[in-house]
Amino acid sequence: MLDLINVSYDTQIPNNVGLSSDRRILKALEKWHPGYINWWKGSGPDGFLEDLVYLRTAVSVDPKGWAKFDYVKMPEYRWGILLAPQVEDRRIPCGEHLGEPAWQEVPGEYRSLMRRLVVIQGDTEPASVEQQRFLGKTAPSLYDLRNLFQVNVEEGRHLWAMVYILQKYFGKDGREEADELLLRQSGSAEKPRMLGAFNEETPDWLSFFMFTYFTDRDGKMQLEALAQSGFDPLSRTCRFMLTEEAHHMFVGETGVGRTIQRTCEAMNAAGITDPTDIDKIRALGVIDLPTIQKKLNLHYTLSLDLFGSEVSTNAANAFNSGIKGRYQETKIDDDHRLKDATYPVSEYVNGKILLREVPALTAINMRLRDDYSKDALGGVKRWNALIKKNGVAFEMKLPHGGFHRQIGAFKDAPITPEGDVISADDWAARRDEWLPSTADGDFIQSLMVTVLEPGEYAGWIAPPRVGIDNKPGDFEYVQIHQA
Ligand SMILES: [Fe+2]
Ligand SMILES: [Fe+2]
Repeated sequence: MLDLINVSYDTQIPNNVGLSSDRRILKALEKWHPGYINWWKGSGPDGFLEDLVYLRTAVSVDPKGWAKFDYVKMPEYRWGILLAPQVEDRRIPCGEHLGEPAWQEVPGEYRSLMRRLVVIQGDTEPASVEQQRFLGKTAPSLYDLRNLFQVNVEEGRHLWAMVYILQKYFGKDGREEADELLLRQSGSAEKPRMLGAFNEETPDWLSFFMFTYFTDRDGKMQLEALAQSGFDPLSRTCRFMLTEEAHHMFVGETGVGRTIQRTCEAMNAAGITDPTDIDKIRALGVIDLPTIQKKLNLHYTLSLDLFGSEVSTNAANAFNSGIKGRYQETKIDDDHRLKDATYPVSEYVNGKILLREVPALTAINMRLRDDYSKDALGGVKRWNALIKKNGVAFEMKLPHGGFHRQIGAFKDAPITPEGDVISADDWAARRDEWLPSTADGDFIQSLMVTVLEPGEYAGWIAPPRVGIDNKPGDFEYVQIHQA
């Protein structure tokens, strides 16, 4: 009898999918493993490969105690294959197969559509590790360094999760796709990653925090949609990935929050009350709030692009065939088929922003994006509460969904963060008011100094309120190896 809660360590690859008795897949994964390690060493964190990092490793899929913390060298991290426990008698939650038993194998008719979705999801996982490759060199503290590496090893595990699905359920094509996932490279001219936001740079730690807050949250929403899949193994793997994803967004939210906190403290100590007095604030060695807002604008809008076109027949097909559901599909009170339902979608027509009701089936992407925006608003409100608590008069805002878009109905539309339509020339002239300029980037870069003394923090960021795994403030989260 297979133990599906605790993880088996009797093969090189920890798993709860019975790999030791599934020789074919075990062999395929073992064949893929050296390439993965090569990729990690060549494209993952630059340096630190010999250092001991205090990391959590998944050792169970029991929600009450699934992880253990210990020092580990990153290349020796136990990346494993973990699926959430099977729900007994699970049914397909939406579309034309509504109510039928969930599939344990991929139905032939949906094979290529399903493979494409798994490959796209899989491609984002190593991409973010590549984007964050150099951040270790400018870590503001050991605590932050450890958090970066935690996020990185878990994105690595998410890649394993998708590779397992490809190798197990998609035969030869799946194995080829698994190899390709290690060949594309974020930002590469010849073989870029599949989605735009995953080819952008993550040049500094504020970008990292914005990325983990906004872009990992897109990841959360995509995983939520796939967790509703009628294809049960995909649903189970995504459900477990969501447990890990929560920490990535925590790193982002608290990272931005600590940056804001430090800025407000420095302003108060210097008696600066005007948050737009940028030169004076920057002279204190902290990042002014308007610049933090620009970073927010950038990462939020890049993340909105990841949801694809507002109206999409591909998305309709994925929903209708039961491959992908809506956010919290089983909790929605409707027919789950969207036979006659409509959904409001905003459009940009002849220089005007209009709202149009379209068949809800075609607006699946838009709905998921709306759910995302609502979810993303929570942290923004908490950042504002922090600013207020510090007595500073400034409010962070999510920009309008038509601002700075490269995909969908608002692609290249000259719309301000407030949602006003202006001329293309005005927009171009005012771009640097809303998005980080080269000078902003240079300034932030100038603050990125490495701090590796336990318990100490770079001047632009406040310490966290609690340690990871309840460790004390001066805990040595990374033991830097003395060469
Ligand atoms: Fe991930
Ligand atoms: Fe993530």
